[in-house]
Amino acid sequence: MIKCGCMTVTLRSFAKINLGLRIGAARNDGFHKLLTIYQTIGLHDIIKVNIERGTGIEIRCADPQVPKDGSNTCYRIVESAHRFLHARGRVIVEIEKRLPVQGGLGGASANAVAALLGFERALKKFLSAEDRLRIAAEVGSDLPLFLVGGTVLGVGRGEQVYPMEDLPAIACVVVTPEVGVSTPKAFAEWDRLTCEKLMCWNKSDSGSSEKLTVANASDRMVELSRAYSAWLSVPYSGAPLSVDSRRSRAENPLLALVRAGIMNDFEHVVFPEYPELCEVKRALERAGAKYASLSGSGSALYGLFGSRGDAARAAARLRKQGWAAEATVTLTRRQYWKKIFV
Ligand code: C5P
Repeated sequence: MIKCGCMTVTLRSFAKINLGLRIGAARNDGFHKLLTIYQTIGLHDIIKVNIERGTGIEIRCADPQVPKDGSNTCYRIVESAHRFLHARGRVIVEIEKRLPVQGGLGGASANAVAALLGFERALKKFLSAEDRLRIAAEVGSDLPLFLVGGTVLGVGRGEQVYPMEDLPAIACVVVTPEVGVSTPKAFAEWDRLTCEKLMCWNKSDSGSSEKLTVANASDRMVELSRAYSAWLSVPYSGAPLSVDSRRSRAENPLLALVRAGIMNDFEHVVFPEYPELCEVKRALERAGAKYASLSGSGSALYGLFGSRGDAARAAARLRKQGWAAEATVTLTRRQYWKKIFV
């Protein structure tokens, strides 16, 4: 029996950024192989879940860009869990949107995971970790990361997630330009470019260029994989390190990762279409970012800074230049789980 006006569960649905992202070959199911490190950050939406008498699922959100029907990620995940848990009652999910829609910060995915956790708590019935991960992955490739939080290795189509060593918090600035980038379109554009086999791009700051082909797209995945594993193995390895590597790691492990040579492949397809996003990356670098990148397929970009003060000053400078910029901090797994329920 469901009582009317039962408890509302309120959650913070935190955003993520991608610390490097490589796109591999298209798979038979239409998805692409992916290799990335996800990192949760302090920016968030608010999700409220309530179960009332009746049937069905209702999505409430003041933002007109957010769908309220069965295509909403919160709707889809609650519907799936409702069925699986043989639940009764009408589920109301309220979304207070602060993160951009189609922003590359995983907003809709984080909303869905928060809605699932809130639904389970409101129902007082809980899924196994395995079922929760499966249900999340069925809704989208970047939902499972929000069931881990902190620094997370993502492989497969991005839905296979592995918790990594909890990194200390690092200050960052997130810029959210008003354009919305469609992820499927960005992947399609990537396919077009890799198929052309003739595309050239400037290779980072060196000014030299290289050809992008299907073959070297997968070589480049191996390259990032090596950078990740070298970085990951350092704390566990007894092998001696160069003075530079030791100093870099001790100073800031996250910046040591950046120096290992990470980059986001989506920049190759998104920047030519939206040149203002490349401008934002340069503006972040000029404002003192130690590393700046597009997050996911964009349109959000982030910069990593040496201190919270540096990040706050950079955000103020970028806002003066007319960009929507916010200073925040990366969230360790512990902080993520400590803060998720309001
Ligand atoms: O999994 P998700 O719903 O977020 O994916 C949205 C779309 O992005 C997919 O339908 C697919 O076109 C594309 N995608 C892809 N490869 C991935 C993840 C997403 O091609 N690894």
